Amino acid sequence: MGGSLITNKDVPLSVNKSALTKVGRAINQSGLPNKEIGLILIHGGGSFGHYYAKKFHLSREPKRIELVGITRTSSAMLRLHSFVIESLLSEGVATETIQPSELLKPNLSSITENGLRHIRNSLTNGLVPISFGGVGITESKAFIISGDHICKAVATTMKVEKVIFAMDVDGVYADSKMIGKIIPQLSIRNTVDTRTRFYDVTGGLESKLRLGFELRNLGAQVFYVNGNKPNRLTNLLTGRIEKVATEIVS
Ligand SMILES: Nc1ncnc2c1ncn2[C@@H]1O[C@H](COP(=O)(O)OP(=O)(O)OP(=O)(O)O)[C@@H](O)[C@H]1O
Ligand SMILES: [Mg+2]
Repeated sequence: MGGSLITNKDVPLSVNKSALTKVGRAINQSGLPNKEIGLILIHGGGSFGHYYAKKFHLSREPKRIELVGITRTSSAMLRLHSFVIESLLSEGVATETIQPSELLKPNLSSITENGLRHIRNSLTNGLVPISFGGVGITESKAFIISGDHICKAVATTMKVEKVIFAMDVDGVYADSKMIGKIIPQLSIRNTVDTRTRFYDVTGGLESKLRLGFELRNLGAQVFYVNGNKPNRLTNLLTGRIEKVATEIVS
């Protein structure tokens, strides 16, 4: 669940409640997780995380920043996270929060044994494990952990069949003005013009697309879809064909 979907990304600290309700409804409709198929949710920062990260010059590269910036950014993410889990619960989706610091190994490239156990136990209980982007710290520096990065760490550690990036647009367009039709099947040969939104510190769509190709190489099916359209989300979650989405192809 991208921050572009679950927040009004251009308005600081503004939740998109209706989008969250629709995502919750779609997940509920899908019947996931069940005994055969798991489901893991990850959400981004949108106008909560990115707003403070930008204000306090946090980036994916570790650096020294004002201490207050670390706490403000983490606190905003916790506030957003709390909205997310409450909204999902209102639609009957019971989640189990896994903190990014518990989930990720210090090198951020894969997930910890504890994190893996926490995911498995949640799913066995019928709870949907959920994590979110946040701030990481080293001995003297701070850096952003993006939701997209968590996604990669999970797919590197576990067998992930499908990754669905839910955003606020219908899929990937060739042009950043997003006019015309989306690209239904995106290969490395397509050219995509991307524009990064004002409150964004993690590389916007461009880095999400790079990640998509990496996830595809790890063996996952990868889709970009409009999370404001519950039917499209439910179709992808349940393995039905959905035409209004972008799929990464090799
Ligand atoms: N060619 C394009 N096709 C589709 N979207 C595009 C394109 N160029 C730019 N965008 C923008 O990319 C955004 C999605 O990337 P972005 O990183 O802003 O969202 P997100 O990952 O959902 O949010 P967050 O990073 O807060 O979790 C869309 O909201 C859209 O405005
Ligand atoms: Mg993003």
